[in-house]
Amino acid sequence: MKPRFKKKTIVDPRIKDQQNVINKKLKDPVIREKLKHLSNLYTNKHELYPKNRGYKEYNYAFLQLLEGKPLLEFVLKRFKNSKKSKLTIMDEGAGLTRFLTEFKSLLEKRNINSETTAITLTPGVDLKNSKVDILVKQKSQNFKPFKKYDLITSVFGGVFYNISELDKNLILKFSHSLSRNGVFLFGTNRLKPLKNITVEEHINNIKRTMIKNGFRLDFKFAPSNNNHKLPTYIFKIERLP
Ligand SMILES: C[S@@+](CC[C@H](N)C(=O)[O-])C[C@H]1O[C@@H](n2cnc3c(N)ncnc32)[C@H](O)[C@@H]1O
Repeated sequence: MKPRFKKKTIVDPRIKDQQNVINKKLKDPVIREKLKHLSNLYTNKHELYPKNRGYKEYNYAFLQLLEGKPLLEFVLKRFKNSKKSKLTIMDEGAGLTRFLTEFKSLLEKRNINSETTAITLTPGVDLKNSKVDILVKQKSQNFKPFKKYDLITSVFGGVFYNISELDKNLILKFSHSLSRNGVFLFGTNRLKPLKNITVEEHINNIKRTMIKNGFRLDFKFAPSNNNHKLPTYIFKIERLP
């Protein structure tokens, strides 16, 4: 199936500036020595931080929120009566974009067109080695969504790395870019108490904010996900039809 749109990459120039500043600092031998132990943590090889989960892993991560269906079936059922010419799908914090590539192929097998957008800061991803249609190399905090999405996913993405008082803004921004009936699935395991509030209060605050803004939020604590290096706090936010 041929895509009816042009593939493109969007690069935030600030990323280059930040890289230049970091590279300059790293030339300083004192700073380099101090940071040496950290570099092991952030390589692709570090087994605790996989950057290339695929459909199988995403499906498992969110299973408990998908009404007992695999992710593909869940999405197909949700949009089966829509007259859309394509499904718009975004993965926030997409790593090496394996999930989007596999999900797009699964949809193609069902004769369903999709336009896939990846937001990723992982080095080395480009349109030549990835099947995504729109590649955004920009922090999610700076990203301005330019269309509505039917499905947004985030597995240990920017939302995970920015869980703080600001999180609701990021979550709200993505929720507001959902199409009617669109779904935002995200997972994290970094919901720590903030300024004397417990994790439960934190979740309830997020939930209240979402309801006030006209969304439905489902939340599950899925401790078994931990055995598979998958997020244990999983959320589903839906824009109501
Ligand atoms: C641990 S990897 C997870 C990748 C993929 N979702 C997976 O599960 O395999 C984290 C991803 O989030 C991206 N990321 C981290 N902070 C981000 C931010 N502030 N905005 C956008 N992406 C971010 C990284 O570039 C990387 O692609």
